[in-house]
Amino acid sequence: MSLLGTWTVSLAATAASAYALDAVAAAAGASLVAVGLLDGVAQEWVMVFLVASYAIWAVGLRTNLRANGALLAATGTSTNVLSKAAFDVTRRRARRGSTARLAAAVAYAGTEVAKETPYYLAAFGAAAATDAITSTDALVFLAGANLAAAGYEYGLGRLTGAFLRHRYASFETDWVPQRYLADYYAAIEPDEIATIAFLVSSLRSAPRDEPVLFFGVGPTMHHVFAAAEIASEIHLGDYLPANLAEIQRWISRAPGAHDWRPFVYYTLQCEGVARPTDDEVAHREDLARRKITQLLQVDAMHARPIDRLYSTVISPYCADSATDNLVTWRRLMRNITGLVGPGGLFITAALHRCSGYTVGGRRFPSANVDESDFEAALRRDFDASIEVCATGQDATHGYGSVVLCQARRHAVT
Ligand SMILES: C[S@@+](CC[C@H](N)C(=O)[O-])C[C@H]1O[C@@H](n2cnc3c(N)ncnc32)[C@H](O)[C@@H]1O
Repeated sequence: MSLLGTWTVSLAATAASAYALDAVAAAAGASLVAVGLLDGVAQEWVMVFLVASYAIWAVGLRTNLRANGALLAATGTSTNVLSKAAFDVTRRRARRGSTARLAAAVAYAGTEVAKETPYYLAAFGAAAATDAITSTDALVFLAGANLAAAGYEYGLGRLTGAFLRHRYASFETDWVPQRYLADYYAAIEPDEIATIAFLVSSLRSAPRDEPVLFFGVGPTMHHVFAAAEIASEIHLGDYLPANLAEIQRWISRAPGAHDWRPFVYYTLQCEGVARPTDDEVAHREDLARRKITQLLQVDAMHARPIDRLYSTVISPYCADSATDNLVTWRRLMRNITGLVGPGGLFITAALHRCSGYTVGGRRFPSANVDESDFEAALRRDFDASIEVCATGQDATHGYGSVVLCQARRHAVT
């Protein structure tokens, strides 16, 4: 969905939701007064009832705030435009996605609290205007409205959650690193046969003895081994702490950490070693372990995800595998390539013309990009070499080819 599209949908959803909530809450408040359930109850106890209704409302609202955060992260839309604005602004500035979700929640809750004012004015205004309505009736009205609002917020949150589950899985709630490793890295599949060979070949022109950044590395190490010899140090960045924790487990040789040795073996073969020995494989693993100096939590939605530039940035299957939206993909690419210094090398890969891939039975989004999208995204600042490689994995993973790209940023003149 385009940026304009996300705002249009959010505006429409905000209007519809505000209208529905007001209708439900006002009707419930008025009904509770009309049925006279609390007639004769002392005002102090009605006050206690009102306070309890706020607590119940907060519980309902919490469900909706969580769902709204997931909706914003997955689609860029919200049922509250102020919440969307807070999310968008904060996500550009803050380095952690959780900060943006917190800002979205504060804006959402703030709007809901502010919307209480007309209810108070209406309830106590009516009590002041006519003897037929007492101040206790006003309190009962407010409590009834709160209870209905609690149900509404809870229902909207559950509905939003169901919509998201039906659509695409979310990295925040559905990504399981171990499932990704089991589904894609139990063996070297055709896409990785092509990608690792491409990576080894592209890195022949990379500057030596400089830090290398892997952006969106996931819980994986299979691309990292190719850079171990040339890099002075290796920095691994990903959005999810759980992915970085899985890498840390491999670094620390924790029991049950993923076995990357077949990938190291293949990397060495791509480098020209016909039959790598166990010692050679172990040596490359150790070299990679020594060169990894930083595990970074990064967010490609941020305009400057890391406060420095690199002469080599490697980001396979990150931007394209993080969104189903072409406009968002361009933005992610802009932010990731922004980390490549003048004259630096950018190496990337993407699923070719694919709208989603499955991890642990859940479908994650893919940006449906092809070679022309890469050309357009990189043309201004890079000299790019792009190829499409058939992998025939339609049946197993939902894509039949991958885009492989290496690009050199123009040097400053
Ligand atoms: C399909 S995985 C690819 C992982 C690895 N590069 C590979 O080739 O297997 C996509 C990765 O993108 C990461 N990701 C999703 N959204 C991101 C964001 N906004 N910023 C940085 N990484 C993100 C996910 O955490 C996940 O590790």
